[in-house]
This record gives sequence, C-alpha cells and structure tokens, in this order.
Amino acid sequence: MRTDHVTDLEITMENPVERGDLSFRDYHELLSSEPRTISVLYRDRQLFDITIPPTVFNPVSSRSGQALADMILTGEIPVEGRRFVDLGCGSGLIGLAAAERCAKSVLYTDVNPNIEFLASHPGVRPETDRVVVQSFCESEEKGSADVVVFSLPSRIREEKPDDGTVSAAFMRDLDFIPDMVEKVADVLVPGGSFVFWYGIHPFQVHLFSQFIGLLAGYFDSASLKCLLEYQFDDGYTSTVYSITKKQGAGY
Ligand SMILES: C[S@@+](CC[C@H](N)C(=O)[O-])C[C@H]1O[C@@H](n2cnc3c(N)ncnc32)[C@H](O)[C@@H]1O
Repeated sequence: MRTDHVTDLEITMENPVERGDLSFRDYHELLSSEPRTISVLYRDRQLFDITIPPTVFNPVSSRSGQALADMILTGEIPVEGRRFVDLGCGSGLIGLAAAERCAKSVLYTDVNPNIEFLASHPGVRPETDRVVVQSFCESEEKGSADVVVFSLPSRIREEKPDDGTVSAAFMRDLDFIPDMVEKVADVLVPGGSFVFWYGIHPFQVHLFSQFIGLLAGYFDSASLKCLLEYQFDDGYTSTVYSITKKQGAGY
C-alpha cells in the first residue's frame, strides 16, 4: 500500500497559473475558465499532451488523477487486455494512461458534455475506444467492463451541482453514492474491479463506512484492498481502494 503521494508522473502546463491565496474551488474555476494545454511525462518520458477545454477539470495540481494514472502505469492497477472505464474522465488523463498500458478498450465517460474533445485525441484509439457523455455509465451494456476507475468528487452539499460545470468535479449530493454504486456494479462483469479514489474529510468517516456498506451489496467485501492512504495535517485523508464484483452477482 502506498502511504504517500510520491509519483513518477509529472504534469506541466503551458503558461502556468499560480494558485496564490485562491481556494481550491476558485483555483479550479480559474484553471477551467479557458482552454489550457498540459504535457504529461512519466519517468522523464513525454507521454502525451492534452488541451483541456473550459469547464473540464484540469488535473495539473490534482493528486488523485496523477496517483491513479501513475498506479496504472506501474501496473499496481492492472489494465492490460482489460475493458477499461475511465469514469468521470474529465481531461482523459487516467484513460490515456490505460491505453498506454494496453487496455483492450477504453471508455472515456463523464457527465460534462465538453469531454467530447477527447474523441480526436491521438491517444484515443478509434477502433477500440469511445467517448460518451452520460451519468455513471447508465447507457452502457451490463457486464461490459472489466475495470472501472473513478476519482470521486469529495465535497458534499445538499444540491446537485450542474453537470457541465467544474463544480461537478469536486462536489456531490447525498444521492450520488447510492446511484453510483448500483450503476458501476451494473456495468462491471462479475469478477471485475472497481478502483476508486475517496477523500475522507475529518468527522466524515461515517460517510465512508456507509459507502463501504453499500458496496457490500454488489461487491465481495473480502476483496476490498487499500492501495493508498495518506493523511494530511488538517486530518483530510486521501485513499485509493479496489474491490471486486461478486461472482454470483447478476446484472
Ligand atoms: C475529481 S474529477 C476527476 C477528473 C479526472 N478523472 C481526473 O482525474 O482529472 C471528477 C469527475 O467526475 C465527473 N462526474 C461527476 N458526476 C458524474 C457522474 N454522475 N457521472 C460521470 N461523471 C461524473 C466530473 O464531471 C469530473 O470530471
């Protein structure tokens, strides 16, 4: 299990934007207010560039996207020959890493309609990969994926954020988790893996426990594995877990 955020993945951006005193939210609003090009390097090798359109989450300073892409590139999250779903793909960083590691197919999917730019990215393979705007894979065939990776929005509020906004990248309402668990279980084949980034805020451990309880309805609890846990000074803990869909679970 990883206990820190050390990564061999480096993201640089043309014309960097300093965060200064901006809150996380205001910084991301600013980052996603105009198209910006990032370059992704792995162990000093240039992998790909992505020009991210407005409203789409920019992973330049995001620990979650970088860690998940790094774990795919190292093989800690096995993807080779598997039907891979980059759920909540945003810029496509995670799916492009899966294509680099020879996933059999990659579905890039997000509620944000502005992800459609990915269809013409050179790392998206026209014969195997697709870009689809939808919520939680709801229009996909049941049992059509071997691995789903999702960096969950970590802040909770009463109202649902608008789909085409960068707020949907880091805010979720209270219906989000039950809906997601059911739909991710649907798209996965029995024995398939769900790998997720989950940020636990101080005094919200009970919400994480509820989430794990819901997963137990569709996934094999004994397969739950922590791949990363890191606690910040303010008590916020970032985690990455994997869990396998129950063999006997239908669609
Ligand atoms: C934390 S961002 C991660 C973006 C990208 N995967 C990365 O690592 O940079 C979460 C993403 O989930 C998307 N999202 C939020 N709700 C969703 C839903 N119901 N279905 C699919 N994607 C959703 C957001 O639009 C956003 O792109």
